[in-house]
Amino acid sequence: MDFTVKTGDPEKQRSACVVVGIYSPKRLSPAAQRLDKASRGQLSQLLKSNDIDTSCGATTLIHTPAGRILAKRVLVVGCGHPKKFDAKAFRKIAANTATALNKSAVTEAISYLTELDADNQSLNWKARQHVIASDATGYRFDEFKSDAKPPKRPLRKLILGASTDESTELKEGVRQGKAIASGVERARRLGNLPGNVCTPTYLAEQAIEIKKQYGKLKIDILEERDMEKLGMGSLLSVSQGSRQPAKLIVMHYKGSSQKNKPVVLVGKGVTFDSGGISLKPGAAMDEMKFDMCGAASVLGTVAACAELGLPINLIGIIPTTENLPDGEASKPGDIVTSMSGQTIEVLNTDAEGRLILCDALTYVERFKPEVVIDIATLTGACIMALGHHATGVMTNHQPLADDILDAGLTSGDRGWQLPMWDEYDEQISSNFADMANIGGKGAGTITAACFLARFTKNYQWAHMDIAGVAWKSGAAKGSTGRPVPLLTQFLLDRSGINTEE
Ligand code: BES
Ligand code: MN
Ligand code: ZN
Repeated sequence: MDFTVKTGDPEKQRSACVVVGIYSPKRLSPAAQRLDKASRGQLSQLLKSNDIDTSCGATTLIHTPAGRILAKRVLVVGCGHPKKFDAKAFRKIAANTATALNKSAVTEAISYLTELDADNQSLNWKARQHVIASDATGYRFDEFKSDAKPPKRPLRKLILGASTDESTELKEGVRQGKAIASGVERARRLGNLPGNVCTPTYLAEQAIEIKKQYGKLKIDILEERDMEKLGMGSLLSVSQGSRQPAKLIVMHYKGSSQKNKPVVLVGKGVTFDSGGISLKPGAAMDEMKFDMCGAASVLGTVAACAELGLPINLIGIIPTTENLPDGEASKPGDIVTSMSGQTIEVLNTDAEGRLILCDALTYVERFKPEVVIDIATLTGACIMALGHHATGVMTNHQPLADDILDAGLTSGDRGWQLPMWDEYDEQISSNFADMANIGGKGAGTITAACFLARFTKNYQWAHMDIAGVAWKSGAAKGSTGRPVPLLTQFLLDRSGINTEE
């Protein structure tokens, strides 16, 4: 979808549709007021006859604008009570606008929604969110449908209407929104691909694709023999049950001077998690193709960062493998030696995510990172704790968690912190090795993080458990692209290019 910014008055736009907001019970936004005036009170009349629903997110399409309105149609978007109109409400009206336009005959529209005051959010933020919400609404995954019917008249172009002094900020917001939206789309597509297509090799090829598309990237793909040399016995113990070769994907984005330390993102890339010998039950096992959504979010975020040309150094690392049962698969009770030298008793082969992440987390020490964030669909327990609304955030450095949680609030892609007290760490002790790969009953999300923490002592680190947010089940089954919005916002904030928020 195409997004642009244009200055000018709403009544003068020769567009297929002009979009304006109206608050409850009957308060017109400035753009709505102008249209009302130009149409000699058409909007007020429709409000009076209750033909316009002003509840938050409702949409009313007026096909025959009156008077001096040059657009063919007006879409009135209900904003609810002005006092309750906040960031969440803004995202809602932006998404519903896109849905309404996609359903209508309109393929191009100009929106004045960024004039609405949403809890003092900046114009840049509003433009960014408008673009992200519109793009997400139009997303479809039909690569594997032989009779795919694209929507008849989808919205192809959304213009943000601006006054002259607003246009620079809106344009920057649109630029950022587009990059985030395309990062989200990329992550969603990879997540939705079936496990027989999206293999570790496929993910490695995607990294190379991203490099072809944007400059400033360097890609290294480590093969199993490289990992053997590095002593990654923990990662390799997971891949030994699979016929697909494991890969360690390393993406370097250089947007700033060599002397600035990099931010490192590490994404879990289990392209299918059967549980291994500790086989999962059959119900919903297909959803374990989504067990590479951490990896997908790293690919999406690195691509967004490269598209934006952010003035930072970023490294994306993806340990990727399948987890399958096999005659050569690792077994409960096996003891493996990680790259750090620490030994691990594999009490459950289904706790494989931490086994691949721990070696990747040791590997990243060589980059002398400023901070390291890992992103993983790590524990079903995280869904028990936080449901499908928030990413679980755990850290060894509180200011880092604060920045992540902040980026979550700004982007609407929220996280919530869980504690990492010593008592939890004691749960992963083993009778036979330095640690076990499971922590027994209770706080499974935290004991998984405590496991990872034993490999991240030398730098500032945060762990994001995205098990509940990376995909949806049921009728709307599919990848969400989370937490690309949060991560990209985190990087935008760190690069300091948005001064207004
Ligand atoms: N990929 C799963 C976690 C998961 C399960 C995410 C269901 C979303 C939905 C992970 O590899 C796993 O299997 N974790 C186990 C850990 C347990 C064996 C300690 C789990 O959560 O059951
Ligand atoms: Mn598992
Ligand atoms: Zn898994």
